[in-house]
Amino acid sequence: MTDGQVEIEISRDAGVQTIRIQRPEKKNALLPAMYQAMYEALVDGDESSDVRAHILIGSGGVFSAGNDIKDFMSRAKDGVPQVGETPVHRFIGYLPRVEKPLIAAVDGLAVGVGVTLLFHCDLVYASPSAKLITPFLDLGLVPEAGSSLLAPRRMGHTRAFEMLALGEAFSGERAREAGLVNAVVAADELEATARAAALRLAAKPPAALKIARDLMRGASVDEIVERLEAESKLFAGRMASPEAKEAFQAFVEKRPPNFNAL
Ligand code: COA
Repeated sequence: MTDGQVEIEISRDAGVQTIRIQRPEKKNALLPAMYQAMYEALVDGDESSDVRAHILIGSGGVFSAGNDIKDFMSRAKDGVPQVGETPVHRFIGYLPRVEKPLIAAVDGLAVGVGVTLLFHCDLVYASPSAKLITPFLDLGLVPEAGSSLLAPRRMGHTRAFEMLALGEAFSGERAREAGLVNAVVAADELEATARAAALRLAAKPPAALKIARDLMRGASVDEIVERLEAESKLFAGRMASPEAKEAFQAFVEKRPPNFNAL
């Protein structure tokens, strides 16, 4: 049994809350307790006057391999959950509602929700080894976390389709050119770069900053939440599909999936 409190390390210093994903032996794949810990940290940080900005960062040279595939398999058996009922839905559903600046530092692999959460961030820094992959289609799934709305707006339809549907890996540099990443910086300067930006934002007048963030979100919170809920229903339905079951089983058995036999 995992303990999300251990695998998500929360620290606060000088107005900056750092949320660190620490499950490196599984490439920082996310389990329910980890989503819950991240959700609670974001809510608590938003409510606390000690926090003026959040940083999301991985560990061990990986940002996150996305949702844990074995967790996908067990969730697929539980039927279609409603948005907000599970830790993953709580976390994803809160992303458009985060009240303070959200900054991501991406070193190495970012997969699935490890990429789609970036569309909710105000600033994203990446290392030269950053590799952003959204294999939703290969898993029989569909884009989630509002990415079907936010990615085309941020990057244009062509690049968003290449990322979210074709599943093409984007390097940090490609993601920078596409407008998803602010800057590519050396891995050993990545956290310091994110922190320097967070400290600058932490020193801004908070009420003005909140209004600026709301104005610049690219879509209204209601619009994002509406899309996110529609995606979540479709995603949950897909998780129980024969295509997804074959893809999950193939991952566990470390073999290529065979969709022709379905
Ligand atoms: N869920 C569960 N376990 C995962 C995982 C995930 N999303 N990603 C990696 N792991 C585990 C592997 O099963 C392996 O466990 P093991 O040591 O017990 O066999 C361990 O993490 C190391 O991963 P490995 O595949 O050996 O590393 P790699 O460097 O060769 O490949 C990835 C890394 C991320 C490319 C590859 O693991 C992968 O494709 N993972 C699945 C990503 C994914 O589809 N996520 C869901 C997105 S919607």
